Amino acid sequence: MVHIDIESAKRFITTDEFADANQKAETAYRQVVEGSGQGSDWLGWRRILSEPNDAELEEITDHATRIREDADLFIVCGIGGSYTGAMAVIKALNPVFRNNGPEVLFAGHHMSGKYLKELIEYLEEPKADGELKSVYLNVISKSGSTLETALAFRMLRSWIHKSYEDADRRIIATTGPSGGVLNKIIEEEGYKKYIIPEDVGGRYSVLTPVGLLPIAVAGIDIQRLFYGAVSVLEQEKKNRKALIDYASIRYLMHEKGYAVDVIGSFEPELNGFTAWIQQLIGESEGKEGKGLYPALAGFSTDLHSVGQLIQEGRRNIFETLIVVEKPISNLVVNRSDGEDIDQLSYLTGKSFHEINRSALEGTVQAHSEGGIPVCKVVINILNEQNLGELIYFYELFTAVYVYMLEVNPFNQPGVEDYKKAMYRLLGKDN
Ligand code: PA5
Repeated sequence: MVHIDIESAKRFITTDEFADANQKAETAYRQVVEGSGQGSDWLGWRRILSEPNDAELEEITDHATRIREDADLFIVCGIGGSYTGAMAVIKALNPVFRNNGPEVLFAGHHMSGKYLKELIEYLEEPKADGELKSVYLNVISKSGSTLETALAFRMLRSWIHKSYEDADRRIIATTGPSGGVLNKIIEEEGYKKYIIPEDVGGRYSVLTPVGLLPIAVAGIDIQRLFYGAVSVLEQEKKNRKALIDYASIRYLMHEKGYAVDVIGSFEPELNGFTAWIQQLIGESEGKEGKGLYPALAGFSTDLHSVGQLIQEGRRNIFETLIVVEKPISNLVVNRSDGEDIDQLSYLTGKSFHEINRSALEGTVQAHSEGGIPVCKVVINILNEQNLGELIYFYELFTAVYVYMLEVNPFNQPGVEDYKKAMYRLLGKDN
């Protein structure tokens, strides 16, 4: 179960403030549960967990197994909520330097011509045995019309059709139930289609086929991931204290004028996960002049970079650390071959986990003393079950906290502004 440690942050607020915020958080939580808040048509991320579609989970697992047997490369083509969740889970659970099955690559998440050109060149490079790589493409777009994704899909789709006779089965589309250009293409070409439920928004969609297919292709057990999330939903009423306290703290930081929430972890495996949290919270809360900027930090790396600013810069920063309790690796510091020339023998036999943990606790201490409220969000072990729990915890937390700000957590009206300006510059008709 996800738990939180807010001892450091509590030093920056009064007991009364916390009690009032707790009440407000309870009201916001009820709005989510009762579907009485803004944007309540978009609560499908809870519905899918309360009525699990086991047939779909099985279908995705079987399809992914077939792809894993045949593919060298699997490309996820999507942007925003259509790719951050898959990237987060795959980075967290797969080996760093080896592929556990097909190599999973991402496209359609920006408009870099260099990236796309080099990606296609990479696809074209034959394998060591001279054979063409076996490439699959999963285009993911709820609207079916997002330019970044649509452009990359156009280029990659052409390449796949040119390169393989069985192109149709290599292209898989994940999109809204109907409408949109992508649905037209699917109908014409007969590609396999997975549906993103109408009532699930992009950034809340990792536990739909949006995230589940790429995650399963990467060899990760999606049943355990999904049911990890289900277990939190089932017990949320009686176990909601952590969620309510965390929402209360972040709300108080917001109300006190803090501007930045540095979301970090001491596990590089979680850098993709913190990016998913950033997108989820940022796109949900940043409206009507409200919101804490969710900045990312990967520790201890960034203690040698923005760490200076966090420690001694402008005091408008709140910090959230995602912590994994149990060691991710059992590596220990080796015995020195000769004299203690590097002066590190005091660490001989210590595990890297223990050393990393000292860096974490030392950082919490130093940052708190330097005027930074720190909140730890803790899971026990880095596995499918716990990540599933953390995913739903954050989805629910985001909805509750954003309701406390009295804005709609499920829309993103501001995203249209850059699109309108860009389309005008590109001379698009409508
Ligand atoms: O959370 C959201 O709704 C957005 O981040 C979308 O996921 C993103 O804009 C991509 O949209 P689409 O899936 O329609 O291509």
